[in-house]
Amino acid sequence: MIRLDIVSKSYKIDEETTFYALKDATLEIKEKEFISIIGPSGSGKSTLMHLIGLLDKPSQGELIIQNKKISKLDDDQISSLRNEFVGFVFQQFNLIPKLTVLENILLPTIYARKKLDYNPTEKATELLKKFGLFEKRNTYPNKISGGQQQRVAILRALIMEPKLILADEPTGNLDTKTGREIMELLKELNEKEGMTIAVVTHEADIAKYGKRIVNVRDGKIVK
Ligand SMILES: Nc1ncnc2c1ncn2[C@@H]1O[C@H](COP(=O)(O)OP(=O)(O)O)[C@@H](O)[C@H]1O
Ligand SMILES: [Mg+2]
Repeated sequence: MIRLDIVSKSYKIDEETTFYALKDATLEIKEKEFISIIGPSGSGKSTLMHLIGLLDKPSQGELIIQNKKISKLDDDQISSLRNEFVGFVFQQFNLIPKLTVLENILLPTIYARKKLDYNPTEKATELLKKFGLFEKRNTYPNKISGGQQQRVAILRALIMEPKLILADEPTGNLDTKTGREIMELLKELNEKEGMTIAVVTHEADIAKYGKRIVNVRDGKIVK
């Protein structure tokens, strides 16, 4: 589903110096996998995630997503692919405070580039019920707990029926117990629905939920 072929991401510091946030990364993520990407702060995890999520382009190497070479696509094609392919979950939840829970979940469908073959509100309602948040649908994000906010963020990712969920430190703003609940939820999505999931974390306890763990150190994938 996803392949990185000797991919690097570098930044030019000055005339002579180039800094590699990621260097010669080769990685494959198969459909229905649940992988954890673990490494200390500054090791290149988010860089890797931004590349996989098509938020950024490699400086060198090839990224292949669903048999498409990303270097061959223009920006518009990349946006469309990102839109249909990946759902993001972030440490900070990134919910819009002025929108209700339901409106937050529906937001991606308003900006959707692809034609949806389902009714967004019906789908959101179904998701809210399934994840025990239906009673909170007309509530605002600041009136619900962190764990609930992160679940709303996960539903906002799921509403577009992505092929991949990319979660960058999804438990970083949660206490241990709530963090585990979020990881259990992701695990269930993977096991019951076959959702492909990649979680970025610096915590070994969180990484353990993945069926495969990828270690990143100083911009390199290490075994
Ligand atoms: N736009 C950028 N310009 C220069 N350096 C960057 C940029 N983005 C990230 N870096 C550097 O790349 C390294 C890896 O960053 P990042 O992928 O965010 O690490 P992690 O998510 O593992 O904490 C860090 O040293 C960071 O400072
Ligand atoms: Mg990071």
